Amino acid sequence: FNVPKAVNEPVKAYAPGSVERERVLAAYKEMWNTQIDVPLYIGAEEIRTGNTRTMSAPHDHQHIVGTYHLAEKKHIDQAIATALEARKKWAAMSWENRAAIFLKAAELIAGPYRAKINAATMIAQSKTIHQAEIDASCELIDFLRFNVEYMAQIYKEQPQSDSSTWNRVEHRPLEGFVYAITPFNFTAIAANLPASAAMMGNVVVWKPSDSQIFSAKVIIDIFKEAGVPDGVINVVYGDPIMITETVLASPDFAGVHFTGSTHVFKDIWAKIGANIHSYKTYPRIVGETGGKDFIIAHPSANVKQVVTGITRGAFEFQGQKCSAASRVYIPQSLWPAVKNQLEIDVNSMKMGSPEDMSNFITAVIHEGSFDKLASYIDQAKKDADAEIILGGNYDKSKGYFIEPTVIVTTNPKYTTMETELFGPVVTIYVYEDAKWSETLELVDATSEYALTGAVFSQCRYAVEEAVIALQNAAGNFYINDKPTGAVVGNQPFGGARASGTNDKAGSMLNLLRWVSPRTIKETF
Ligand code: SER
Repeated sequence: FNVPKAVNEPVKAYAPGSVERERVLAAYKEMWNTQIDVPLYIGAEEIRTGNTRTMSAPHDHQHIVGTYHLAEKKHIDQAIATALEARKKWAAMSWENRAAIFLKAAELIAGPYRAKINAATMIAQSKTIHQAEIDASCELIDFLRFNVEYMAQIYKEQPQSDSSTWNRVEHRPLEGFVYAITPFNFTAIAANLPASAAMMGNVVVWKPSDSQIFSAKVIIDIFKEAGVPDGVINVVYGDPIMITETVLASPDFAGVHFTGSTHVFKDIWAKIGANIHSYKTYPRIVGETGGKDFIIAHPSANVKQVVTGITRGAFEFQGQKCSAASRVYIPQSLWPAVKNQLEIDVNSMKMGSPEDMSNFITAVIHEGSFDKLASYIDQAKKDADAEIILGGNYDKSKGYFIEPTVIVTTNPKYTTMETELFGPVVTIYVYEDAKWSETLELVDATSEYALTGAVFSQCRYAVEEAVIALQNAAGNFYINDKPTGAVVGNQPFGGARASGTNDKAGSMLNLLRWVSPRTIKETF
């Protein structure tokens, strides 16, 4: 098959004085000082309902960067009808033409829009430039490029035939429309959930997170410029329950592509179950949800590697990756050295606005998240079986800032060892060296989730034991590396148990969920 070979987009360094740094800072400044007004996008229409909400930056919540318009039920019905109308031409279009649109989108991001999409992600989601670059630029470009390659492989794969029969399989889009619900924490995921379904010939109703609409607008503009036809991806915001209930009530609802919290996904699943008799086709349910991701160090582990795994895994992007390390198991023999190195590394992390590129950590996404994290920190200050050894301060006067916080607990089932916090708080349990095998069992049994996890060990027997003991505990398992930062085309991403349906993002497996194949047998 003839499709450009997918290559990972190289990560730019944004060194002081570099052209790319100047460009992103200029884009940041311009967007910071320009109010944007984001309409609903339904077909060719940009709808301003007049019922608006403001958007602000988490690191400076008094600074308003724009407004967006809330949909009413009639707009959701309109989005569905518009998508179904657009489907007539889109589903019939050759896959090469669909692929070309998304390859062009990747090039627009790699070139002219890189500074803008990174700056929007820095403003709206408070990402540092490095975190914005690996997400909004590199990961998104990689999703688009690799998915085109996987898509070509899917279309190429055909069954056997012989001289008297010709068998073929058409990988047709789903009959209906796909609903994409996307999170605030990755601009790449926000774009990929509607794009991957659309790429396979589907039409989409997309509801981005309220906290990501600012950068979602940049994505929509890029998709339109790349040639995504009107009506193929329709974008709505507003009361999430109303939107979801309206979408799920449609007989043409054909699938949901979701990233977000476990309880919302389970609610959606239950609603789909309740409506099952009204659908034309069994809906595809694809979701990536929560995590309580672990790091376990064996006594043979390299201390510096372990500490880098903890600090980068737990604190990059303020711990708001579903893959973030949040429970850590350290053997007693290594604890003094680990603790010492952690103090050095955590105390050297600068916190502040992403505009100052020397900052490693910035604000958490919103007040609700800040208050929740602050309450867990306050509780740890009181509890006898927990001790905060680093951080523990927070301040929301200007932005939602929480210091990188390390809790040490004597109770392996302590609340913050079990509950997903989604913030810069990591909890460490120190185990007796002789209890390595029991601790592996503990790691497996402690959480309902199974998204990511890491083992650090220089002993191959211990690595093997961990790989086997934790085989169901993480969909992405790392050996001597942090549990975050999966790269498209290299580490397909997703988890099981309460972490999702494990239809790996950025994989052929995922794209196959968005097709309904037809097998044709022709006899001569
Ligand atoms: N794919 C991201 C990571 O691996 C999380 O969504 O960190």
